[in-house]
Amino acid sequence: MAAETHKDELIWIPKEDEEERARVDIYKYIFGFVEMAVVKCAIELGIADAIESHGRPMSLLELSSALGCAAPALLRIMRFLTNRKLFKEIRINENIQDSEQPSLYAQTALSRLILRSGEKSMATFVLMESSPPMLAPWHGLSARVKTEVDDSSAPSPFEVANGKDVWSYAAANPGHSQLINEAMACNARVTVAAILDGCLDVFDGIGTIVDVGGGNGTALRMLVSACPWIRGINFDLPHVVSVALKSEGVEHVGGDMFKFVPKADAAFLMSVLHDWEDDECIQILKKCREAIPENKGKVIMVECVIEENNNNVEEKHEELELKDVGLFLDMVMIAHTNKGKERTLEDWAYVLAQAGFNRYNIRAINAIYSIIEAFPN
Ligand SMILES: C[S@@+](CC[C@H](N)C(=O)[O-])C[C@H]1O[C@@H](n2cnc3c(N)ncnc32)[C@H](O)[C@@H]1O
Repeated sequence: MAAETHKDELIWIPKEDEEERARVDIYKYIFGFVEMAVVKCAIELGIADAIESHGRPMSLLELSSALGCAAPALLRIMRFLTNRKLFKEIRINENIQDSEQPSLYAQTALSRLILRSGEKSMATFVLMESSPPMLAPWHGLSARVKTEVDDSSAPSPFEVANGKDVWSYAAANPGHSQLINEAMACNARVTVAAILDGCLDVFDGIGTIVDVGGGNGTALRMLVSACPWIRGINFDLPHVVSVALKSEGVEHVGGDMFKFVPKADAAFLMSVLHDWEDDECIQILKKCREAIPENKGKVIMVECVIEENNNNVEEKHEELELKDVGLFLDMVMIAHTNKGKERTLEDWAYVLAQAGFNRYNIRAINAIYSIIEAFPN
């Protein structure tokens, strides 16, 4: 598969099999949106939920009658989804001719992730990213890349498409705000489970913790239930905390993290700093610093750490890997935020040092994020 490199000219001459592969791969980009759209359709129809509640694989007729769908159209959707390995197609009797026996559709590990509810469900995350306000900004990506050159205050693609930045838009549209909060909760459930599994000691010695930009409080709910000695403060914008679910050991506080952060032994920020540019991150971190004790406080960040030079094609596997998700999220930051970005180790070192955190460590967890623990002295 390796291409011949002409070092003198630095020109790559692709081999024939690479060209053959490319002729196929280009369709991933021509029809990339189709996978997202069909998975969204499957979630809206409740295909995985119907099979789950049936308790065993279902035939097309059982499925179409349970979902109230036209069987011929559903057959085409299921053919696509089984081809993409979202569901499994099984035949009971190997001896009967293929065309004569009905297929049964069974769940896979992947289809279980698009169940509408449950600890591992990512369904609302798919629905949020595929919602019209989140999709429209993607048409403005190239314009954004150009305008940043001569106008650093140019509005984000999200603002161009929706008239407001993402958080003001959510404040004005409670339905969309709920979609964001529940989508973030999907992500929080799997990430906090990975933190509790791999790095529980991060919370040793902490009596109170403030989750800055904690959304609907899902992360703190899990954390407090795993570490019942901790009292949690879920801090987010007023329109978010006003509809957050109440839970024991967690107090909801509304406010603006650029103005103040409630006092606690530790501040926790998950998937928050990536929404902001360096100077804004420094401001937020300084507010966190003021909120924690100087001698024994710490800030726990759960964020992507982008690897430098991870584009080495020779080493790259065909399959998507967890560390690649950070690069996807970096594109999301261009489309959906004003100046947010995913950061490399070097980027994090700069932001932390400027905010007065000279001591920090980074720990890997089985998630798209790493844990960055930073100490004020
Ligand atoms: C990407 S979400 C992350 C939510 C949560 N930490 C999680 O990982 O599930 C970012 C959160 O920051 C909150 N946020 C945005 N601006 C804020 C501000 N000025 N003060 C407090 N929270 C803010 C948003 O409302 C949102 O809940």
